[in-house]
Amino acid sequence: MSEASRAIGALWRQACSRIDRQEARALLQHVGRCSHADLIAHPERELADAQIAQYAALVARREAGEPLAYLLGSAFFCGLEFAVSKAVLIPRPDTEVLVDEACRRASAWRAPRIVDLGTGSGIVAVVLALRLPSALVTAVDLSPAALAVARANAQRHGTSLRFVEGDWYRPLGDERFDLIVSNPPYVAAGDPHLANDGLPFEPQVALTDGVAGGDGMACIDAIVAGARDHLLPGGWLLIEHGYDQAVKARESMAAAGFLKVDSWRDEASIARVSGGQNPY
Ligand SMILES: C[S@@+](CC[C@H](N)C(=O)[O-])C[C@H]1O[C@@H](n2cnc3c(N)ncnc32)[C@H](O)[C@@H]1O
Repeated sequence: MSEASRAIGALWRQACSRIDRQEARALLQHVGRCSHADLIAHPERELADAQIAQYAALVARREAGEPLAYLLGSAFFCGLEFAVSKAVLIPRPDTEVLVDEACRRASAWRAPRIVDLGTGSGIVAVVLALRLPSALVTAVDLSPAALAVARANAQRHGTSLRFVEGDWYRPLGDERFDLIVSNPPYVAAGDPHLANDGLPFEPQVALTDGVAGGDGMACIDAIVAGARDHLLPGGWLLIEHGYDQAVKARESMAAAGFLKVDSWRDEASIARVSGGQNPY
């Protein structure tokens, strides 16, 4: 191996011809445990053989379409860093709308009882626990591997949550909450987007309800259908959904007897979260 190809500056330049330069830099900093400043000030610094091999493997995986977050093992949400693995959906900024709307309503209770259905990496539950220190937050997921990631994230951010494994409300018995929040799988099973943008690398159980020929609403409908049996009087249900599902979500909530049914928009002005209040 030539001297030049061991140096971080040269390794970065080579990778830039294959993948996005910022991503090539992020991977190099991850493998080489160096900063951006190190890369600029000391491009001649050399990596060990094992690090060079690790970097080459990560660049090849990124070139093959694997999302950067899985390669780095972490992603940011609401300004905080969270561990991610292939067992969980990569956090999306759109989900901040769900957190914001939940926080806006939670001030109605001194110690709100909140359940996050389909917690995945735990981002929603952890941020709610941090922003609402008196809240009692329960996080539910069907996937034990996802719950392990969520537990690690709760610990990383010093939050104390209750984790429950199972199918939506089933493991909760007849327990009731002030707030039910959820970002469920809502991509229709036949949606061509599932084949693009790194989605094939994400857990399919986190993306789609898997209903062949369906509209992606099966999980949303199941959560709406069970919500009034698990909400206290005056409690709120808030659900994230797809860009074209707001009308259907509101219709489903209104038909279930929810009041004040409405939708809230993300930064791209897309109605991203819908919700309603359980009657008193
Ligand atoms: C879209 S991901 C959301 C993850 C995380 N809350 C977020 O916003 O990034 C949906 C999650 O729902 C979970 N899930 C799917 N079906 C479920 C079910 N029937 N009961 C409980 N969780 C389920 C998946 O394992 C996945 O973690």
